[in-house]
Parts: sequence; C-alpha cells; structure tokens
Amino acid sequence: MTDRETMRVFIDCDPGIDDAVALAYLAARPEVEIVGVGTVFGNNTVAVTTDNALRLLELYGRPNVPVAMGAERPLVQAPRLAEHVHGGNGLGDVALPEPVGSPVAESSAELLVRLARENPGGLDVLAVGPLTNLAIALGLEPRLPELVRRLVVMGGAVEVPGNVGSHTEANIVNDPEAAEAVFAAGFDLDLVALDITMRTVATSEWLDRLKGVPGERAQRTSAFLDFYADFYKGIFGSRQCAMHDPLAAAVLIDPYLVTESFEVPIRVELNGSLTRGMTVADRRPRPSADQRRAARVVTSVSEDEFLKLMLDSLR
Ligand code: RIB
Ligand code: CA
Repeated sequence: MTDRETMRVFIDCDPGIDDAVALAYLAARPEVEIVGVGTVFGNNTVAVTTDNALRLLELYGRPNVPVAMGAERPLVQAPRLAEHVHGGNGLGDVALPEPVGSPVAESSAELLVRLARENPGGLDVLAVGPLTNLAIALGLEPRLPELVRRLVVMGGAVEVPGNVGSHTEANIVNDPEAAEAVFAAGFDLDLVALDITMRTVATSEWLDRLKGVPGERAQRTSAFLDFYADFYKGIFGSRQCAMHDPLAAAVLIDPYLVTESFEVPIRVELNGSLTRGMTVADRRPRPSADQRRAARVVTSVSEDEFLKLMLDSLR
C-alpha cells in the first residue's frame, strides 16, 4: 500500500482505556478513514462505552465519525464488566467533556453490514471488544467475510495464560459463542492475542515521555493510562501496561510491524467447566483434520517502532 492510499476502517470497541489509545492511533493517521465505530458491552456497559466513544472521537479530532451502539449483553451468558481495570467510567475515572454528537439510529451490526455492502472488498475491520456485534452482523449478512477485506481481532490466549481465567482472555470469554461464530466464518483474520500483547508494553519510560507531551490529547490519555498502569503494576510488578488494543490497531494499519506469526485454525471452547472461552489452536501439521480457515496469530512485532508510532499518534 502506498502512503496515500486511503484505508476505510470500521472499529468495534468497548472503550476502555486501551481502546481509547487504539482510537487515537487510528485517528491520528490521515490515510485512515474511520467510516464507523460500533460499541459493545465489555469494559463497561454499552451505554458507557458508547458515550466514551463519542467523547474520544471528539478528543482525538474525528467528531463526525458515526458511532453506533451495539450489544448490551453477550449472546448467551450474563455480561461481566471490568471497572477494576478501566475505572468506574471506563476511562480511568478521568472526566472528558460531554459529547456534542450522539449515536446514530443503526445498531453497530447494522452499520457494519451496510458499510461492508457499500465497500465490497474495501473495508477493514478492527474488533477490540467482545465479538457480539460481529456475530450479529454475520447473522444479518452471511457474506460478510467475503465483503470485508481484513479483520483484526484483539482477543484470546493461544499459547499463554489468560487474563480472566487460567486459559481465558477477556474479549473472548465475555462472549464465547459470538467469538466461535466469528472464527468459524472464514474471515481473512489476524489474531492479536495475549501471546503478543502481554509482551508489548508501554514502559514507565514511555509513560513518562507521554507525560511530557503537551496538548489535550496527550495529557488526557496520560491520565487514563495512570489508572491503567496502577492496575498493571499488580500484574507486572512495576509501572508499565499492556497495550492490547493499540497493538491490534497497529497490526491493521502498519502490518510491516509484524515480524513473526503463525497460521492456525482457532476454535473457542464452549463447554469446559474450567476452559469455557478458551481459544483452542490446532497446531497439528497442515493439512490437519481441522479444515477451518486459519487465522494468523501474531507472535512478534517491532516493539520500539510500535511504541514510537503510538507516541507520535498522541502528539
Ligand atoms: O484482554 C484485553 C482486552 O480486554 C482489551 O480489548 C481490553 O480493552 C480489555 O477489556
Ligand atoms: Ca477493548
């Protein structure tokens, strides 16, 4: 892709502190046209994540992007929120100004399907929350995997421990049935799982550099990340934080950052009493018994370059 070629991107998210940084990463790039943002329950209720999406798009300079409210609960189970990670308002308890805009009348799934039909082969999708909206969209338009050019999902723990349960990551375990439907559908799919996101962290030096960047975007984001880093200190033992969703955004628009990946069919465990919501990778040599279209699981990225781009996006 040349520098000037426009990418049309639909983002499905549950902002969420790292979702916020993902939005900033994409919003800062002139070659990225954010054609729509869908919201979903996850880090908070869908009412809160929708309100946050509107506030964040205004903060990051994309006030005219349509925001569509999505699912308020998973397909089958009860919702579980993550206020301990993202704060009571989903943004580290940092108050942003009331949004000027309001959500569009379409649901997230309806907006995604309409945009995919209007841009066959020309729409890329970033999914950084539970996959409920995408599963609903597949019900509305089974040809979605052919219409969408590329789907990047942040979710799962393929060969590493989970972050909610021993084997389960938040976005997948928050709606396992939806995730299974998405992995089964045949998308051209990159999976940015905990395998790489827990190794690609904003260090305390990076967080300090962000604190020194003037301007509303950087300063508000720095305040969100103070809360997030406090949570992650309990996991890493020092002030740093995993940048799950911005890394998925980077894999979408800066694919050259990916230095290693492997391709494997992914299934989601739906029944296990200990493993429900686990992403199961069939790593038998191909052709294996599993004929499902393989996902590309990212295992290595140019971390320094990613951290530089992420800081640039907040200047
Ligand atoms: O497991 C990380 C994912 O769940 C991210 O999308 C983050 O926003 C969290 O809630
Ligand atoms: Ca998220």
